[in-house]
Amino acid sequence: MTTVDGLELRQACSDDRDEILNVHEAAFGRAAESKLVETLLKDGADIRELSLVAVRDGKIVSHILYTEVQILDEKNKNLSSMVRGKGGIAYAVALAPLAVLPAHQKKGVGKALANESLRLANERGHGIVIVLGHPEYYPKFGFEPASKFGMSSPFDVADDVFMAKPLSAFNEKICGNVIYHDAFIEVE
Ligand SMILES: CC(C)(COP(=O)(O)OP(=O)(O)OC[C@H]1O[C@@H](n2cnc3c(N)ncnc32)[C@H](O)[C@@H]1OP(=O)(O)O)[C@@H](O)C(=O)NCCC(=O)NCCS
Repeated sequence: MTTVDGLELRQACSDDRDEILNVHEAAFGRAAESKLVETLLKDGADIRELSLVAVRDGKIVSHILYTEVQILDEKNKNLSSMVRGKGGIAYAVALAPLAVLPAHQKKGVGKALANESLRLANERGHGIVIVLGHPEYYPKFGFEPASKFGMSSPFDVADDVFMAKPLSAFNEKICGNVIYHDAFIEVE
């Protein structure tokens, strides 16, 4: 557990589920992302060590989730599975979704949780983090258009919203089409 300015950052646990779903629904103002999170948690598709909550005064005010993604070359060969590190660490991971309760937004909570999770992702030995999100927000954490690293999106989105951040274990030879967990396909 880490504490930043009275904000407790810790790994999410199963008892947090309802509060986490509520954070996503309130932040996005619709049910799609909370349903996505519910499915990912049910499937055990979240990377436990990177699924973090921010707690203020005993209340969960933010949650961040990561899943493994695959990277396929033009012949559909899975390049990322060939470079799993020691302990089966996935080479590529996707940050999504990140949500902060509306009353707690623009106070540095999202920044604290994103920075802590990226620090942990680097420490765990992942090679690259992919994100689909606000092009004004994620560059603050070192994300750049994923196309710069030869990564293409499975979604029909503008180049600047599909971003990637290489970590210490980055390998420029591993690039191609990013494949997310199926549950992401349902979210528009
Ligand atoms: C986007 C979101 C996660 C940001 O979290 P937050 O706690 O409000 O943001 P922070 O206070 O940590 O902001 C850090 C910086 O980003 C800026 N910022 C915050 N939200 C932003 C946004 N939507 N677009 C661009 N910049 C943003 C802040 O002004 C701040 O800038 P500074 O470091 O120069 O002062 C949060 O507002 C949220 O949950 N929004 C609804 C759900 C959502 O859109 N999730 C992201 C999906 S990609």
